[in-house]
Parts: sequence; structure tokens; C-alpha cells
Amino acid sequence: MALTCDDSTFDGDSFPNLIITIDGPAGTGKSSVGRALANRIGLEFLDTGAMYRAATALALDQGVDITDGPAVARLAADADLHFVWAADPPTLLAHQKPYVTRLRDSDVTSAVSAVASLREVRDVLARKQMLIGRQHPRLVSEGRDQGSVVFPDADVKIYLDASARVRAARRVAQLAEMGVQVNLDDIEREQIARDDADANRPVGPLVCPADAVRVDTSRIEFDDVVDELERVVRTQLAARVNRGT
Ligand code: DC
Repeated sequence: MALTCDDSTFDGDSFPNLIITIDGPAGTGKSSVGRALANRIGLEFLDTGAMYRAATALALDQGVDITDGPAVARLAADADLHFVWAADPPTLLAHQKPYVTRLRDSDVTSAVSAVASLREVRDVLARKQMLIGRQHPRLVSEGRDQGSVVFPDADVKIYLDASARVRAARRVAQLAEMGVQVNLDDIEREQIARDDADANRPVGPLVCPADAVRVDTSRIEFDDVVDELERVVRTQLAARVNRGT
């Protein structure tokens, strides 16, 4: 779909390279909003959390110690993680097999923060993500370190946030849809612990890049968040075109 701005009109070819990063804690709607934004403006979508989840699932399933950075990084590198881009959202393959439902299992969710704190694993996956960015240069990339580490020169950087209570309530509703009943307070506590771990690790921590636009989704409905992000993207790109950069 063509990308148009208020005061300028672009077609897709106006931006052969267009990287938009979306970072933020769990439960802010990064994945669903990022996918919707990518569809609206005709970009591809990269879910980098799926890659950390895949490394975690591989380690758990093969009995590898999830605190052993070099061993887990080797598993992730050997699995030839890559996406099938024709699917929406792109399907992650490990060892040429789709790796989808396993990634959301509770043992993976509980262990993934520890795996995501391992320097060797982050090095392998960040390098893969940079390569994906070169092969798919029109991309919305979602994660924790996309605007800070992986794509520091991204064209537009967004940081999504929401209150801890709202984020936990969204997770409870998501699990309820899958038939899983959980306690809101427990989920909120677990999520805060995971976000603290993600924000305080020495490598690739969750941060809001200085040049990111911060959007709080606590009180905004899904469609309005996507509208707002689309507006941010169009405004920033229009400003760039008008500056001639
Ligand atoms: O977005 P998610 O819940 O699928 O992410 C799973 C975990 O991976 C979460 O603990 C944060 C971590 N992660 C990360 O450290 N860096 C990324 N770029 C993406 C996810």
C-alpha cells in the first residue's frame, strides 16, 4: 500500500529502506500494534521476542542449562532460526520446522528473561536481526533493544508503555481467551519482575532511546494506538522529505 503524508505523497519506492523500531515492556501491545502498523504502511514485521523464546525453548527441550550463555547461543546459531515472510505474522522456523505454539508455553515464558540476559545469546540474535534488516529493509521491528542496539539509525523509533496494572490485565484477558484462568495480582507481580530483569541487565537492556517517541497505551484502544503510530510515522517522514534529508 502506498504511504502518503499530509503535505507530501510517497509511494513505496520513496523509501526503499525504512526501518521503524517499537520497543517497550511486555503487555503494551507491541506485537499486535506493530503488525497492524506494518500492514497499514506496507512494511514487513519482525517479532524479535519470538527469537529469544525460540532460544529458550531449544535449551529447555534439549536439556541445556539456561544459564550457560555459550551453550544456549550455540543452540540458537545451529538451529538456523529464520522466518517465513509470506505468512502473516511471519512464522519462525528452527531446524527448518515451524516453532510457534511452543514459544508461548508457560515454562518458556518463565525462563526467557534469564536467557535474554545472556551476552552470547544477545550477540547471536542481534547479529541475526541486523542481517534480517539488511535483507528486509522495509521493516517494523519489535522488541526491547531494537532502537537502541540493533537499529540505532532507524528512521522512526517508538517506545510503547502502559501502567503495570493495565499490562497485567491484558495478559490475563489473553490467557482467558486461551482457556487459562490466572490471578491478576500474580501476573502483575511476575510481569514487573520480568520487566525489572529486562531493564536492569547489562547487555541490551530495555530502554527508551533518547530519539524515540513515547506512547502510553494505558487508556487508548488498539485502533487508536495504531492510528497514533501511523500519524507519528507520517509526520516524521513528511518532515524529513520537506527537509530534503
Ligand atoms: O516480547 P516477548 O514477551 O515475546 O519477549 C520475550 C522475552 O524476550 C522478554 O523477556 C524480553 C526478551 N526480549 C529481549 O530481551 N530483547 C528483544 N529484542 C526481544 C525480547
